[in-house]
Amino acid sequence: MERELTPWLKTRLGRIFHGDSLNVMRCREDSSVDMILTSPPFALTRKKDYGNEQEDEYLEWFRSFALEFRRILKPDGSLVIDLGGAWKPGIPVRSLYHFKLLIMLCEEYDFHLAQEFYWWNPSKLPTPAEWVNIRRVRVKDAVNTVWWLAKSPWPRASNRRVLQPYSDSMRDLLNNGYKAKLRPSGHDISEKFARDNGAAIPPNLIAVPNTESNSRYLRYCAKNEVRAHPARFPASVPEYFIRMATDRGDLVLDPFGGSCVTGEVAERLEREWVCVEIKEEYLLGAKGRFEEPEQGCTTAKGAKKAGEGYYRIPHPGLLWDDEERDLLPADGGRKRPQ
Ligand SMILES: C[S@@+](CC[C@H](N)C(=O)[O-])C[C@H]1O[C@@H](n2cnc3c(N)ncnc32)[C@H](O)[C@@H]1O
Repeated sequence: MERELTPWLKTRLGRIFHGDSLNVMRCREDSSVDMILTSPPFALTRKKDYGNEQEDEYLEWFRSFALEFRRILKPDGSLVIDLGGAWKPGIPVRSLYHFKLLIMLCEEYDFHLAQEFYWWNPSKLPTPAEWVNIRRVRVKDAVNTVWWLAKSPWPRASNRRVLQPYSDSMRDLLNNGYKAKLRPSGHDISEKFARDNGAAIPPNLIAVPNTESNSRYLRYCAKNEVRAHPARFPASVPEYFIRMATDRGDLVLDPFGGSCVTGEVAERLEREWVCVEIKEEYLLGAKGRFEEPEQGCTTAKGAKKAGEGYYRIPHPGLLWDDEERDLLPADGGRKRPQ
């Protein structure tokens, strides 16, 4: 039993284990976790100029985790995996590793893709500079994919838990009335569409900047001279899925815990939780998340306070005109501009 392992830290609802999460998961009973939510390491380990090998190596590495995830997840539970994309080294071409992983999990480990999500981080820097800023042949990569998987096609979930405010245009429509009609797409938009339900069903795009700068965690790291984890996700990402697909008292596991953002959110939302991290260095800072609770803060309230409740995504045509002054580089950007 995992309960017989010694936790590195225990809180009211959670436990942090220091070590390889495979070992912790192997001590768990079958079908004993309601949600596995994690952001695994996604930097590709070995650099090659081209070819598939590093993607294949990643998939091989993931297999033992996939087996354990499948075994310990409850039949109506959810597996949520946040993955950043990657560029192939030396060429302006994207790796397919995260798509291959998704296909492997569904086709070989029998998971269902409940839904794919995109976490848009508006504060992402335009990298790699070589392709984006210098040769100008690619655009800013600003989304992570979040695969929401489940053992059954019917994992427990409700979008009522993650409703959003109506957009300005929807508000106008509700205020000014809407004429029911058949859309050119064939969708029959009935009168019900114009009913004010108080809030909107969100899309599968989660817009959250990753700009934590004065959190309790960072203050704790600075005070204790501990290095902050370099690849943290913002609390709103785990919070979205924990709210939507678990209930109070459920168990949430993050097998690649890092600085234990997942644990902090789960504790605040009254879920039981387990985080496992292989590098103790990261746990030294994670500890600070549980020493004194942040006062009555939810990430959503925090966002409103900072005036970050809404993002406007410009229509792509705003700056387009009919003058295409320069021809495209015939070499696709191969020759570096001076
Ligand atoms: C992308 S980071 C997770 C960051 C975390 N979501 C956060 O916000 O702080 C992935 C983490 O997985 C850890 N890791 C890698 N292999 C592991 C393993 N087998 N068991 C436990 N942790 C592992 C790495 O040390 C790294 O801290």
